[in-house]
Amino acid sequence: MTQFRKFKNTDEYAKAAAQVIEDFILEKLKDQKIVRVALSGGSSPIPVYEALAKSNILWSRVALFLVDERYVPLNSKASNYKMIDDVLASQVKNLRKFYHYNTRDPIATIVDQYQKTLEQFDHPLFDLVVLGLGADGHTASLFPNDPALHETSRLVAHTTSPDANTKDRMTLTFPAILDSQKIIFLIQGEDKQKTVADFTHQKKTVDELPAQKILEHPDVEIFFAP
Ligand code: 6PG
Repeated sequence: MTQFRKFKNTDEYAKAAAQVIEDFILEKLKDQKIVRVALSGGSSPIPVYEALAKSNILWSRVALFLVDERYVPLNSKASNYKMIDDVLASQVKNLRKFYHYNTRDPIATIVDQYQKTLEQFDHPLFDLVVLGLGADGHTASLFPNDPALHETSRLVAHTTSPDANTKDRMTLTFPAILDSQKIIFLIQGEDKQKTVADFTHQKKTVDELPAQKILEHPDVEIFFAP
């Protein structure tokens, strides 16, 4: 089932999304030792991650993973690793692990290493995956018409973004993202109204609006603050 929730302002959006994530993780921790959570970058999740940094989550039993990354140094402002480290990972006590793409290496090596890292886990690969949505319909770093949209076995891919400054990307593929218990979209921005409407009404093809593929998953919750 897909649930769609629209909010009047950033505060309500961040509070509601952080609460759902916290409750989900705490519930999972009743039956499992470790919870695996994959997080996206971008700006929409920042207030949610800030709220999570102040939550009651037992971080020693949470392993974080990066959904996607730009091919930039880890200390660059454009790095998703840096954003999540700054607002969440470095702010909490005893985080079990934060798996990320090591952007010091050549792209092919990074992709292979992240693939090998993910292959050591059982299924489902993730308990929770947090995604964003671009105005062009991309999610993770899966952009319109990229051949990686049709990947059926590999978990990690090298893709290219239309943004010349952060052109080379590394990303989880649909087979990896969909191998999860729950998926949450965090979407902010007035400019995304039309894309969100096309997305939720499934008006396009996956090549035109890649995020639509995710709606094949049985448990998707969308938080939108225009
Ligand atoms: C990234 C992301 C990407 C993001 C969307 C939306 O590296 O940019 O992981 O998939 O979720 O681009 O970004 P905003 O929330 O900043 O609009």
